[in-house]
Amino acid sequence: MVASRSPFANYFLLVLVSFCLLRFGDRINYETLTLTLPRTNTTAVSDVNDVVDREPARRNYIVRFVEYKDAEDHRAYLQGKIGLDGWEWIERRNPAAKFPTDFGVVAIDDSVRTALIEEFERLELVKDVSADLSYSRSVLAEGDDRVGAFADGKKRPGKIFSSMSYSEGECYATAISNSTISWNRQLLMQRYQVTSFFGARGLWEKGYTGAKVKMAIFDTGIRANHPHFRNIKERTNWTNEDTLNDNLGHGTFVAGVIAGQYDECLGFAPDTEIYAFRVFTDAQVSYTSWFLDAFNYAIATNMDVLNLSIGGPDYLDLPFVEKVWELTANNIIMVSAIGNDGPLYGTLNNPADQSDVIGVGGIDYGDHIASFSSRGMSTWEIPHGYGRVKPDVVAYGREIMGSSISANCKSLSGTSVASPVVAGVVCLLVSVIPEHDRKNILNPASMKQALVEGAAKLPDANMYEQGAGRVHLLESYEILKSYQPRASIFPSILDYMDCPYSWPFCRQPLYAGAMPVIFNATILNGMGVLGYVESPPTWHPSDEEGNLLSIRFTYSEVIWPWTGYLALHMQIKEEAALFSGEIEGNVTVKIYSPPAQGEKNVRRSTCVLQLKLKVVPTPPRSKRVLWDQFHSIKYPPGYIPRDSLDVRNDILDWHGDHLHTNFHIMFNMLRDAGYYVETLGSPLTCFDAHQYGTLLLVDLEDEYFKEEIQKLRDDVINTGLGLAVFAEWYNVDTMVKMRFFDDNTRSWWTPVTGGANIPALNDLLAPFGIAFGDKILNGDFSIDGEHSRYASGTDIVRFPAGGYVHAFPFMDSSESAATQNVLLTSGMAKVR
Ligand SMILES: *[C@@H]1O[C@H](CO)[C@@H](O)[C@H](O)[C@H]1NC(C)=O
Ligand SMILES: *[C@@H]1O[C@H](CO)[C@@H](O)[C@H](O)[C@H]1NC(C)=O
Ligand SMILES: *[C@@H]1O[C@H](CO)[C@@H](O)[C@H](O)[C@H]1NC(C)=O
Ligand SMILES: *[C@@H]1O[C@H](CO)[C@@H](O)[C@H](O)[C@H]1NC(C)=O
Ligand SMILES: *[C@@H]1O[C@H](CO)[C@@H](O)[C@H](O)[C@H]1NC(C)=O
Ligand SMILES: *[C@@H]1O[C@H](CO)[C@@H](O)[C@H](O)[C@H]1NC(C)=O
Repeated sequence: MVASRSPFANYFLLVLVSFCLLRFGDRINYETLTLTLPRTNTTAVSDVNDVVDREPARRNYIVRFVEYKDAEDHRAYLQGKIGLDGWEWIERRNPAAKFPTDFGVVAIDDSVRTALIEEFERLELVKDVSADLSYSRSVLAEGDDRVGAFADGKKRPGKIFSSMSYSEGECYATAISNSTISWNRQLLMQRYQVTSFFGARGLWEKGYTGAKVKMAIFDTGIRANHPHFRNIKERTNWTNEDTLNDNLGHGTFVAGVIAGQYDECLGFAPDTEIYAFRVFTDAQVSYTSWFLDAFNYAIATNMDVLNLSIGGPDYLDLPFVEKVWELTANNIIMVSAIGNDGPLYGTLNNPADQSDVIGVGGIDYGDHIASFSSRGMSTWEIPHGYGRVKPDVVAYGREIMGSSISANCKSLSGTSVASPVVAGVVCLLVSVIPEHDRKNILNPASMKQALVEGAAKLPDANMYEQGAGRVHLLESYEILKSYQPRASIFPSILDYMDCPYSWPFCRQPLYAGAMPVIFNATILNGMGVLGYVESPPTWHPSDEEGNLLSIRFTYSEVIWPWTGYLALHMQIKEEAALFSGEIEGNVTVKIYSPPAQGEKNVRRSTCVLQLKLKVVPTPPRSKRVLWDQFHSIKYPPGYIPRDSLDVRNDILDWHGDHLHTNFHIMFNMLRDAGYYVETLGSPLTCFDAHQYGTLLLVDLEDEYFKEEIQKLRDDVINTGLGLAVFAEWYNVDTMVKMRFFDDNTRSWWTPVTGGANIPALNDLLAPFGIAFGDKILNGDFSIDGEHSRYASGTDIVRFPAGGYVHAFPFMDSSESAATQNVLLTSGMAKVR
């Protein structure tokens, strides 16, 4: 990837290697999401009519209204306003029915679907209409028959559930004659009594046991008279099944970790009031509408803490995301698991990745991040910005002991187990504040402040893996005990000297002339659900040299609910091109919130973000590599298929290709080799090619403007820019086969591109006489005795005379292996 200025054939060094080489090899873990590649034979085009015929002619839709009213009023409104037939109001008989609601469920005939939805959405009081998605959570079973959202190849990739470990070991507390097992049990007891790791006993002895804390457990229910619990307040029914009991063990286990009082698997807060919301059927199925009703009920009944057992990559599921905002806005502290999709980066699950939710990752008892724990910055902001730090905290998530249905103890692993651990800690902490003061002091922001400020930083993980670190119950207790409402920034320090915590920042110093480096911090506002930035943030360098830094700020104008963001865009001024050293100082920002109830004055607080930056002289051109982020697209919003077709259980490219997520190993390798890598977040026309040795185009999905194509040609031929392209596959027949019918939206989902957008790349490379084909190749190869795997990619079908092409024999797995096409977009003439 080195640029040189030799004749044409040489200076244009094209690298075509699958980027999968650069990813972790050990992605096969036992707790991944349940996305499964659709069976190609059920999604083939010839099946269209079959599939459609089998679907019912009506489907349920959620109609959201702009205000809360009795369901009956909403129904009357719709019936009075809608002239068309072909729809029906669905009555929901559940405990939320006695409270006002903000949505209705209607069944709509397929034949009039489009017209009716349009008519609904035109109504003044209707916010929007969306499909009532059905979710299914994976069963606790081993093997490949996962019951996931994709298992039958027909479900939309909506919310997908984090699954528990498949390896659960039940260990009986009753008398057991088998000595091996009882030995095992003792070992487990010593090691996995999780409450003891956090020193919960210290707080119990002070009399704090979670009393008068209302904990909503959204799960599979719980048995009424389970002996491990002394305070099951209410069990509610949100499914269509005739039971409130837990027949799976998931809900019971979770409740046990939080509030179990049985000696061998003690929970954190045994007096916590348990409100068991049964939102999953025995088959682990649920619907958006069930969740929305249950959420509304949680708000109406003033729950304090809610732990959500749902998560997935789709942060564009608006009814859901907005309902979560509403919940936290109503002062319900929400705890959720960050996901079980590690060790890959960019794998955070929603809603745990929302700043108003406490997102929890998992560690093992050696204080190492558990391999399954999702990590990498949040990906909502990619490609145009930079993700936030998540998870917020980590907790033990391996082999945790909790209650089983049969009133014994059992152990489970997964971030979905670490999450109830934190929920338990939160319940215990809530009970530390005297009841009359709770609404004044406790809220999603102040609880998060207590958790992140108290947390213990782990030595060998970065902030995008561990957040603030391991939950430290007693430190957080100290912080809460003397808490005064205030705002703060998380993380509160960006220290280029602190490696690996400040990775990737600590891996590459700043220098003059570089693209802006973005750090996206979160504002936590414990003063009120609503807050504002009083005046623009300011930079206070600790000495003269700090003036060499130029910072631009972007931030939330309105901080709601409880949280916002403050992004730094940092550049070193041109005059410091030779400067080498450290720059220190603080960024401060003033936040205010309207007076709380009974107060006269606005609440104010100044937050500080401490910066310790490292600066080096601008590196020579040949060492500077520019990474094109601008042309990268991921799921959501479109169906972007995975790159390697070998990865069968994950059909979508949802990790967000970025140097600091998916490609973090490549970033580290380039750094190790002495290169400096910058990120281009704008079109190819927006950079000065004189500054860079190489432009890296990796796995890109977007198209290029004519101006970009022209400029790149000029950059390469006249300015001597090197270009490295990692292209991936694009094969129309295969893409058609990857279509699947979405049961929920009753539409076909077709990939918007292949692993990469080869036609667009061919347009870009046409001026050089280079083109990729449509094969899908993989296999092993070796260069200079080094063996590597070409996991997935395509072939080069056109190359200028005098150039060098290295060729290796690979396997072709494309559907149309017999034909070989040059892929060009419509604007180009097809040569062949
Ligand atoms: C569909 O594919 C599966 C496995 O890929 C196979 O077991 C099954 O027989 C196929 N069904 C048909 C109808 O081809
Ligand atoms: C007890 O141990 C023996 C082997 O020592 C094993 O075969 C048997 O299945 C065990 N019993 C139970 C109840 O697990
Ligand atoms: C739960 O609600 C559904 C739908 O209203 C009902 O059919 C079912 O009988 C209820 N189950 C229980 C245990 O109340
Ligand atoms: C907490 O959330 C995780 C997943 O996000 C889930 O597995 C667990 O069951 C939830 N616990 C409760 C109490 O709802
Ligand atoms: C920072 O994160 C927030 C919240 O996701 C986002 O709205 C904003 O665009 C991000 N800023 C940058 C510069 O990436
Ligand atoms: C920056 O903030 C830290 C922590 O609040 C403080 O210790 C330090 O003195 C501040 N430095 C400057 C230059 O204001």
